[in-house]
Amino acid sequence: MNIRKIAVNTGGGDAPGLNAVIRAVTLSALRLGWEVVGIRQGYVGLLNMTPEEGLIPLTRDSVRGILNQGGTILGTTNHGNPFEYPVNKNGEIVAVDRSDEIIEAFRRHGFDALVAIGGDGSLEIANRLCRKGIPVVGVPKTIDNDLSATLLTFGFDTAVATATDALDKLHSTAESHSRVMVVETMGRTTGWIALHAGISGSADVILIPEIPFNIEKVCESIRKRDQMGRHYSIVVAAEGAMPAGGQVRTKGKKEIGSEIRLGGIAEWLAEEIAARTGKETRFLVLGHLQRGGGPSSFDRLMALRFGTAAVRFLAEGQSGVMVAFQPPMLLPVPIEEAVAERKRVPLDSDTIATANSLGICMGTHCICE
Ligand code: F6P
Repeated sequence: MNIRKIAVNTGGGDAPGLNAVIRAVTLSALRLGWEVVGIRQGYVGLLNMTPEEGLIPLTRDSVRGILNQGGTILGTTNHGNPFEYPVNKNGEIVAVDRSDEIIEAFRRHGFDALVAIGGDGSLEIANRLCRKGIPVVGVPKTIDNDLSATLLTFGFDTAVATATDALDKLHSTAESHSRVMVVETMGRTTGWIALHAGISGSADVILIPEIPFNIEKVCESIRKRDQMGRHYSIVVAAEGAMPAGGQVRTKGKKEIGSEIRLGGIAEWLAEEIAARTGKETRFLVLGHLQRGGGPSSFDRLMALRFGTAAVRFLAEGQSGVMVAFQPPMLLPVPIEEAVAERKRVPLDSDTIATANSLGICMGTHCICE
């Protein structure tokens, strides 16, 4: 593969470190003498914008000073799947396959390859484009850390730090008021953020989708703490957590080309806990705060390593692969492998054992058991 010009895009929800990857891809590609162009908002810049609006030439100057910035200078969207593009037909939104337009635009603009920075949805799209003839290397992005084949995705560490900071702050107000505080973290159907932040932030109860919970055990733990003189409790619930035999809570309707939004478990838990324990209870949904702000130094370094590795893999002739962190190496793994299934917290993981050993209630046993 003789590369002279590559495109870069960012798709799906934003995550701290996206700009660091863009900078890494740009600087390392420029060193190889390649031209680098950013596509705005996933693929929207090629489908619904003029080239002047939709394409950003990436140079040393345009990526200066962005390493520590949150968000993405290219913009992103989770409604821009070209294979299921939402189009208004006579007042009704229908899904249209516009992928051929992407292939044609790639040829027209002389792009030899694509670095797709995204989570499972965006990487799946990139892989389908790869099968249609576009050489692709993917970079694993998501605060959820739910991509298979890589130990970590960039953005996760920063999200955990933000959630941990929130838990630290909530402790003093919970204790002052002798209240139960229920905190909802993101993570979709996995509990990585809730588990890591919950342990780091000294939560008393951590509820994750991988371990359906028993509400009575949660309440028993809170009552037990009360008896021990701890009149407050901090409960962390992943947005995908659910009671055994229950269902995940969602918001609104599924829109074309995107996934249904999750949310509402903290509010439900707060009502149940208040009713069952008689304790004053409040809830807080951390929401998009977890995606905001600049990347931690760990995520910056991961993002720079991922971005430069993506360019190296392209230069070696790799395609249809994602850069995977398999310590101590960054390896090219087939994108199919990374998106085949969500990486969930293994029940036999050392992190869950840590929570258990610390006496944190994981929703199945009271802290007294
Ligand atoms: O995948 C990242 C993520 O932040 C999830 O944790 C969350 O469920 C979802 O995106 C929220 O998406 P949106 O930005 O569309 O509300």
